[in-house]
Amino acid sequence: MKKYIIAIDGPAASGKSTTAKRLAKKLKYIYIDTGAMYRACALNALWENIDLKDIEALQKMLSKIDIKIKYSENGNRIYLNGKDVTERIREADITKLSSEIAVIGIVREKMVELQRKIGENGGVIMDGRDIGTVVFPNADFKFFMTADVKTRAKRRWKEAKEKGENLSLEKIEKEIEWRDKNDSSRDIAPLRKADDAIEIDTSKLSIEEQVNLILSYIKGREE
Ligand code: CDP
Repeated sequence: MKKYIIAIDGPAASGKSTTAKRLAKKLKYIYIDTGAMYRACALNALWENIDLKDIEALQKMLSKIDIKIKYSENGNRIYLNGKDVTERIREADITKLSSEIAVIGIVREKMVELQRKIGENGGVIMDGRDIGTVVFPNADFKFFMTADVKTRAKRRWKEAKEKGENLSLEKIEKEIEWRDKNDSSRDIAPLRKADDAIEIDTSKLSIEEQVNLILSYIKGREE
């Protein structure tokens, strides 16, 4: 089977990463969570106390940033400048900061460059906001996952609960709405469905169903 480039975009908590992870396992592909890369950038800016308006300081930070994604049985681990930041980058302050730093042109240029390098040989599933529109406009498959905001907030709430955190559902919903708006309204590479992407509304689908649906599109082309 040809080693495809598969792009999965969509808003927060629409099911992208869970689906991408499982698909990668089934297809024996590399899975790259590009959101984790923006989150790592945000954490680096926080560590270095960088004002996001200070483009020079950001440029300097980006010139030496070292983001590594290492495969592990229980999901990829993310390393920033040699330190494992996998859990830290999921915390609320970084979630917000990642969306703020993702509007900045030089940040996006650097991340896109890294992403293209990782994916150029195919056999890769990348999830994010701009994979099908900007990073790989010629991807072999493009999917755009959506779900209504209530369903998405509930998913994040459940995830947090499983980790022992008790968050307010209302607060999560507000955070998701804010981020959707910020990600969709920015000037550079806003969150939007590529014209040739297949839209998948996961509101009423189980994980198994959404994975199988995407697989059926991929297998369909093989036949
Ligand atoms: O997992 P979740 O949907 O909460 O977010 P994420 O995919 O980890 O992305 C975090 C933030 O990074 C998003 O809110 C976007 O602002 C930004 N991002 C982006 O701009 N472009 C991407 N390709 C991926 C993420």
